[in-house]
Amino acid sequence: MASALPGRIDLAEWKSIQGAISCVLTSGIYIGGPEVVNFENELAAYLGPELNAVSTACGQDSLVLALLALELPAQSWVITPPNDGGFSALAVQESGHIPLVVDVDAQGLISIESLASIPKNLLARVSALIVTHLHGQMADIEVIVAWARDLGIKVIEDCAQSIGAEDGQKKAGSFGDAATFSFYPTKNLAALGDAGAVVTASPALAAKVREIKQYGWQPRYHLSRTRAMNSRMDTIQAAILSARFRYLESNNEKRKGAFSKYVAAFPDHKFLGTFDSRFVAHHAVIVVEERDQISEALLRSGVGVDIHYPYLNSEMTGVHSAEKMELPHARFLAARILSLPCFPTISESEIETVIAQLRLAIG
Ligand SMILES: Cc1ncc(COP(=O)(O)O)c(C=O)c1O
Repeated sequence: MASALPGRIDLAEWKSIQGAISCVLTSGIYIGGPEVVNFENELAAYLGPELNAVSTACGQDSLVLALLALELPAQSWVITPPNDGGFSALAVQESGHIPLVVDVDAQGLISIESLASIPKNLLARVSALIVTHLHGQMADIEVIVAWARDLGIKVIEDCAQSIGAEDGQKKAGSFGDAATFSFYPTKNLAALGDAGAVVTASPALAAKVREIKQYGWQPRYHLSRTRAMNSRMDTIQAAILSARFRYLESNNEKRKGAFSKYVAAFPDHKFLGTFDSRFVAHHAVIVVEERDQISEALLRSGVGVDIHYPYLNSEMTGVHSAEKMELPHARFLAARILSLPCFPTISESEIETVIAQLRLAIG
């Protein structure tokens, strides 16, 4: 019970998805076509005025594509968070650069304090920064972008977990030089398979992403780049995403409803999230002592908890940070965070069961 199974889709949404799949089957167009263009336009319009969206095959490719399109000098240093499951660091390495893994704040987000604490001699070597809006929270992105612009540092917002979060005026993904999205089946806006996007205010950058995501063809059939890939979004996924778009805001509210109930039930515990528009409750993360015992007890009782994420990027064998930085906040959180079941179709009785079992486990 109560695990974030992407298969649990509300009936009306399910029917919209069936209709979209049917249309694609009938059209006979399975790569490209109007569904892909429509979805890109919808996404760009939803995120803000004057934005360009380029669909991709997944969120991870989107990060690599954004980095390649920025055309940073080879082996550039790119600041990444320590606690995003390694996605940012992997993308930096894949695109021929070096991650500089820095600490986050007490909410698990890259903050101006974490950036300001980087020694000047290290900062001088940094060309770009990936800010991950983790768990559905929005980082203090406006302040971060202003700081980065002063230093000539490019900013990529990783919005894989935060589609719809906004500061009241602008949405996550509309601040930096580029933003990346994942539509993995458990995301707030979800495909029924892999899909992603890169969003940018710069038409020139969008054109480069388009080129790189299709073999680096310029013109067609002519490879114009040494680093490129095939990272197209399937037509069927674009049609499914368009069908699901109209449910995004109400689904985000349902996720926030589950999160609020957990917070109300455990008033003495810290949670990673807020009650305003800056949070879309991708995860409902509680901070607990003796997390591993609690997690095991919940799993034994059938409650589908998870840990996002248990390993610090700079301590993964596949990640080579440019410098070893102190990561006190990230280290504190990695040992204590626990993601409680949080998805739009979770029922009241499932939420009550999670709360009851968590009370028992905390003791
Ligand atoms: C923050 C973040 N970045 C990147 C990714 C990678 O996205 P994808 O699984 O679509 O490749 C994910 C996916 O889980 C993510 O949560």
